[in-house]
Parts: sequence; C-alpha cells; structure tokens
Amino acid sequence: MNNPADDNSAPKEQDSACGYQNGGGIPREDMYGAGAKVQIENAVNADKEIGAGEDLSKGTPVLEAIDITKSFPSPDGGKLEVLRGASIKIHRAQSVSLMGESGAGKTTFMNAVSALERIDGGSIFWDGERIDKLFSGAQAARRARFMGFVFQSYCLVPELDALENVMLSARIAGLYKPFKTRKAARDLLEKVGLKDRLKYLPSKLSGGEKQRVAIARALINSPSLLLADEPTGNLDETTGEEIMDMFLRLCSSEGASLLLITHNPDFAKRTDKALKMSKGIILPS
Ligand SMILES: Nc1ncnc2c1ncn2[C@@H]1O[C@H](COP(=O)(O)OP(=O)(O)O)[C@@H](O)[C@H]1O
Ligand SMILES: [Mg+2]
Repeated sequence: MNNPADDNSAPKEQDSACGYQNGGGIPREDMYGAGAKVQIENAVNADKEIGAGEDLSKGTPVLEAIDITKSFPSPDGGKLEVLRGASIKIHRAQSVSLMGESGAGKTTFMNAVSALERIDGGSIFWDGERIDKLFSGAQAARRARFMGFVFQSYCLVPELDALENVMLSARIAGLYKPFKTRKAARDLLEKVGLKDRLKYLPSKLSGGEKQRVAIARALINSPSLLLADEPTGNLDETTGEEIMDMFLRLCSSEGASLLLITHNPDFAKRTDKALKMSKGIILPS
C-alpha cells in the first residue's frame, strides 16, 4: 500500500529566506495544490460568521494538533528530535501566539500543523477533518483555501507588482475570478494602506510595505486560519508595531483565526492566548 504518511524521507527543500525553495518566492505547487481535484468548498467555506459573545471553546476547533513528533536526520547519522509531543487547539476567530527560544521548534511546528512538513507521529485536524494522513495534493488543495501565510522575509514574487502578488494567491487556490479578484485585491491593498502602490514591484517597496502586501496576499482567499512566523522580525520597532496593529485588526475584522510566532512579548500579550514552546513541547498555559 502506498501510504502518504510514509513519505517522511522525502527531503523538504527549504531556504533561509522564505522557508520554501520556490524560485523567487512562488509557493511550491504542492503548497497550494494547483490543479488538485479535491472538492473542498463545503469544508472550508463553511460559515465563518461568529456571533458576539459566542463561547470560543465551543464548536469544532479550526486547528487541532495532538502530540506531534518530528525529527530530522542529523549530519552525524543520528536524528534530531525537534518536536516531542507538541499539541495545540485554536478556535474560530481566536488568536494564539507562540513564543520560545530560538531552536525550540516553532517554525517546524508551524510547518507541521500546516502539513508543509510530514510528521512522524500525532494527528492534525483542520476544521475537524484529520489531514495528516492525506496525500500531499489533497492537503495542498485544502491548505490553499483554508490557510494564509505571512513570513518574516515576505516571500513576494519579485517579477510581479503588489496587485499581481495578491491576485496570484487566488489563482493558485483556484479561486481567481477576473473582476472580482482584482477588486478584492485592490480593496485589501487599500485596507493595508497601499492604495498608491498597486503597480509597484517588491524591489521598489520598503520592508514594511512588502509585509503589507504579504498580509493582503494572506487574506485574499478569506482563510479560516492565518499562520505568521515572526512577521515583524525584519522590521524596525516602529514599523513592526504599525504592521502588527494592522495585522491583528485585520485578522479580527476578517474573522480569521491566527497562529502568531513572535519573539515580542508585547505582541504576544495582545493575542487571545499566549503559548510558549520549549524544546519541542508547547508548555501548559
Ligand atoms: N529541515 C531540517 N533539517 C534538519 N534540522 C532542521 C530542519 N529544520 C529545522 N531543523 C532543526 O530543528 C531545530 C528547530 O528549528 P526551528 O523549528 O526552525 O526552531 P525555531 O523556529 O523555534 O527557532 C533547530 O535545531 C534546527 O536546526
Ligand atoms: Mg523559526
């Protein structure tokens, strides 16, 4: 039997800038699953409205990961245990931050729960559906519509302008509609304060502006869950604060849940739940 969970040996190419080796920042096909024929609309486009005062702890979590383990081969032929039974639960419209020492396994955990990286053990549920045993194409098709990503190094496509970068994400997810997507992308870029930068290439934008484009891109498919790995890590303090203010406000107004990896305790405090990871485990909160 060809069990998709057995392809742990497949090397995952990463680069230091974007986390994903993808030719100038274009997400790998298996990240988004262009062309995958999986019917997922029902699952991921389920009602995202949340009523005022609704108890977040009720209902199906947007993300649940239970007892995740993951190791990498070490150069000496041994193995490095990076995740040692890490668990998390994120409810609809809930924001959760994750802090922890460098090397604790935060990025590996984010890659694991978004199924960009195969896990060795444990289980992962997106909107109540177990996804860790699915083939990567099926995971990618779900991921493209279910999740949005914001990386420390922006990961914009250098040849595309701001508007095109945002629209590309809809195209990759199979959600592109000529007029509607353009309008939605313009509206989002306006919301992030870039109304006058639509036609700018990333090389002509400041770091903060690039991250604004990346945030608009992460939101274009109305994802249920946003994953952000140190999104202000390359920005100066003032710009980082501005970007984080805007990002948290947009997550909330768009009704998206958030998993935010950050080194900044002030940002962590502003999420609904602040978690810590140490040595591959998420500590009890
Ligand atoms: N693809 C990989 N191959 C081997 N080791 C890796 C790989 N990715 C991460 N690691 C190792 O896993 C540990 C945790 O890394 P990471 O998840 O990036 O930590 P954090 O994001 O908390 O700083 C580090 O020791 C790192 O060297
Ligand atoms: Mg990291």
